[in-house]
Amino acid sequence: MNNNKVQIFDTTLRDGEQVPGCKLNTEQKIIIAKQLDILGVDVIEAGFPMSSPGDFNSVFEVSKIVKNARVCALTRANKKDIEIAAQALKYAKYPRIHTGIGTSNSHIIHKFNSTPDKVIERAIEAVAYAKTFVEDVEFYAEDAGRTENVFLAKMCEAVIKAGATVLNIPDTTGYCLPDEYGAKIKFLKTHVKGIDKVIISCHCHNDLGLATANAIAGIQNGARQIECTINGIGERAGNTALEEVVMILKQHPYLNLDTSINTRLIYSTSKLVQNHMGMYVQPNKAIVGDNAFAHSSGIHQDGVIKNRGTYEIIDPEEVGVTESSIVLTARSGRAALAYRAKNVGYDLTKMELDILYPEFLKFADHRKEVNDDDIHHLMNLDTFLKSSVNF
Ligand code: KIV
Ligand code: ZN
Repeated sequence: MNNNKVQIFDTTLRDGEQVPGCKLNTEQKIIIAKQLDILGVDVIEAGFPMSSPGDFNSVFEVSKIVKNARVCALTRANKKDIEIAAQALKYAKYPRIHTGIGTSNSHIIHKFNSTPDKVIERAIEAVAYAKTFVEDVEFYAEDAGRTENVFLAKMCEAVIKAGATVLNIPDTTGYCLPDEYGAKIKFLKTHVKGIDKVIISCHCHNDLGLATANAIAGIQNGARQIECTINGIGERAGNTALEEVVMILKQHPYLNLDTSINTRLIYSTSKLVQNHMGMYVQPNKAIVGDNAFAHSSGIHQDGVIKNRGTYEIIDPEEVGVTESSIVLTARSGRAALAYRAKNVGYDLTKMELDILYPEFLKFADHRKEVNDDDIHHLMNLDTFLKSSVNF
């Protein structure tokens, strides 16, 4: 296995779809799964087959059409879930069962009314049973973020022995700080026997806005899979955003870590998911928001017009956005006005710009944004036409 490759495990169709109001039907899941496959994700978590007949059917149909990625189905640690998941994955070229159980005290005591040893027994049984259906079995230690490291290591060792190929360490509640989550991964890397035979996976939630930072901290400490969703959608405040982690690794080549994602398809994939889910990203969303490559203050616009790299660390074309935009507002300067006027056919001299700019500011003070039609309007104002004729 190439140790510099970070596997991208997309859970838009499972954790992402758990968002209230974002439910997808089978047809929509197929459309998105096809796009994820073309985008280059390594794993598509298509659903939780035991949860409903509709979800079973979606995993079943998605399994048939995905050509390159592994198709994964979620289960709880019980035989029925695992059997149903195996049936749903019947036609997958590369099937994976994702089974697991809560490992924090809160889960063991309050959710299961059980003991740590009994929970380990259940985990071993689940992994061993899943292994009778598929070779590739991922184990999740739910609420690993709040699980004591020594117990987590004991659990990981036990499920590796039972045949797990991937260990998912979820920060289910989005509680960890990046150095804490990174240290957890490092602890497992150094204390779990057999850890080098498996892939450690980061599954981080965004309750404190740290999902992306935590996933990157995990990768820097030896994990080699990130579980993420398009646009960062998911339960509560969401999951790690695929577009963010992929572009972080790309923009920091010295980390020497890479993914298989075709980044030029990121923007169109984001739009596809937004439209099908009816869940739209905020304008300032990193990478895919409407303002991610828009510049509106005079100082920034002047810098970007002279050299894009002054205020942009990503070439928008790299993520499939056609160009940076220079937005005209009352905070814009002369350079931006000249630039936008030129784009619609007016190559202004310095004197013309001196006349037009005060008119533009008066106009812009009453608008949120000045568009191309407004530029034509300003160019045809009497004040501008008469004054410019005098020059
Ligand atoms: O957040 C979580 O712990 C999960 C698991 C079910 C993998 O989504
Ligand atoms: Zn989750």
